[in-house]
Amino acid sequence: MKNPEKPVISDTTLHPPSEAGIVARLCAPAAEFYSVECVGVVDSTNTIAKRMAAEGCAAGKVIVADGQTAGRGRLGRAFHSPRGTGLYLSVVLRPQDELAKPEFITTAAAVAVCRAIESTAATRPAIKWVNDVLIGDRKVCGILTEGSASRAGGLDFAVLGIGINLVWPKGGFPADIAGTAGALFKGEVPPADLPDRVAAAVLSNFAKLYVLPSADPSEIVRLYKSYCTTPGKHITVICGSSRRPALALGLDDSLHLLVRYDDGEEEALAFGEISIRPDDKQTDTESK
Ligand code: BTN
Repeated sequence: MKNPEKPVISDTTLHPPSEAGIVARLCAPAAEFYSVECVGVVDSTNTIAKRMAAEGCAAGKVIVADGQTAGRGRLGRAFHSPRGTGLYLSVVLRPQDELAKPEFITTAAAVAVCRAIESTAATRPAIKWVNDVLIGDRKVCGILTEGSASRAGGLDFAVLGIGINLVWPKGGFPADIAGTAGALFKGEVPPADLPDRVAAAVLSNFAKLYVLPSADPSEIVRLYKSYCTTPGKHITVICGSSRRPALALGLDDSLHLLVRYDDGEEEALAFGEISIRPDDKQTDTESK
């Protein structure tokens, strides 16, 4: 068992993501849908993609960065996005053009990331409800979907943003996430073109799950349930300043989390923030 507190930091330098390297690895139907643009270091790929979407770009536009100076996370938080150790990408979607339902964008993305990790890092990740991807008990990927409503009340466009920690940063993660963040590789030397491989695998899997005619929402639900390890765990449900201990009972077919609070009350959570209580955290991190 590797000690998650003492990662071996490799000296490998990852190549920055490249359009040619990503497009060459996309599955054929996904290559027709996506238009990939690599942009180096930017403030936030979601900000750029939202601007392009508002200006009318087609669905399938993908912005891929090597680092972000103002990466954004859920709940108004920052997303740590150092250059050269992670992959930061955003996809413009126009949900009326695609086949699956808008509410499944983030869940389909979480499943696509899990499948991409399995094929590029040969480790089994887990989803912590609602959409954090973990290896062991450390978060390796965050997903932020932002939408713009149309006048008719639907979605004019959505921007799907995905940030993945590929390798451990040389100086380690900042203090506020040092105990919770992880990366796909922490011991073995990863291939230098890992950013291209992971980006292509994420995009190809997401296209199959969400975009292409063969996409089937029930498959997203089935796969999400197979990766989500939250049911059965003792959790804390966080809502503003309130913290309520609960047991996660299971997921329904809308992927709501059924919880039983310690006072016996039960609730189906559609969204929100939870933490896994320490006794139920995995101690073994099998990332490379
Ligand atoms: C979270 O876990 O809070 C979500 C993090 C989402 C980060 C990604 S990185 C690419 C895209 N650009 C951003 O500014 N945020 C998302």
